[in-house]
Amino acid sequence: MPQHVAIIMDGNGRWAQQQGKLRTFGHKAGVDSVRASVRYARKNGIKALTLFAFSSENWKRPKEEVKILMQLFNLVLSSEVKKLNKNNIRLKVIGDLSAFDKKLVEKIHKAEALTEQNTSLTLNIAANYGGRWDIVNAAKNIVQSINDGIMTSEDINEESFHQHTCMSALPPLDLMIRTGGDHRVSNFLLWQCAYAEFYFCETLWPDFNEQKFDEAVIDFCQRQRRFGQTGEQIAPEKQGQA
Ligand code: IPE
Ligand code: IPE
Ligand code: MG
Repeated sequence: MPQHVAIIMDGNGRWAQQQGKLRTFGHKAGVDSVRASVRYARKNGIKALTLFAFSSENWKRPKEEVKILMQLFNLVLSSEVKKLNKNNIRLKVIGDLSAFDKKLVEKIHKAEALTEQNTSLTLNIAANYGGRWDIVNAAKNIVQSINDGIMTSEDINEESFHQHTCMSALPPLDLMIRTGGDHRVSNFLLWQCAYAEFYFCETLWPDFNEQKFDEAVIDFCQRQRRFGQTGEQIAPEKQGQA
């Protein structure tokens, strides 16, 4: 089983448009797929699930769509937090929260505080998140730590840098799923995806469900992760086999 899975939940707009409906109808329908994914992750012992809900570039969308996405985020936060807590799920929001409405930020912090001690699954919602922002933010925090005398420039290495990026306390990213048929990262977890396995599927996000999630995990389980080594080093018993 992968310990940490991330999903680029793409295809809401096209799903709605295929039915002659407004794009925002697809965003609303996508909430059910979020629920199904969380359920699947919890049932199958995945320790962390990171969902891309709104990218730092999504502000470029039509104002009305951005507004509805923010409202939906707000609404879902209100309606789901109790259930998450009851299911022993820890909620985290990753991304640049400074762009959000103060009340929304307060609500986020409250939800995080309420669920902080939960241990079954960590659910990270990436909102106003960008992989480049994450890396630049880590660099800024390091400069701050140096200025505060907590570390020196000699202490900068991959491990200490990693400690300043989002989700550094969680298991490394094992599997990155993207729905909606496109084969790109769209500025998601750039630092964290260094050795993640990628899984792309045509399914549009509102059609994603526990079975589709399972198909991705089964595919993941059949792969050999070599981390730079040879296949023989990883599985010596298979040496010499075709
Ligand atoms: C993903 O679906 C959801 C967000 C980016 C918020 P899209 O809205 O990108 O749907 P498509 O890709 O246009 O179909
Ligand atoms: C990525 O989807 C962001 C989210 C799923 C939140 P986009 O639809 O924004 O990605 P691009 O623009 O097609 O690369
Ligand atoms: Mg899209």
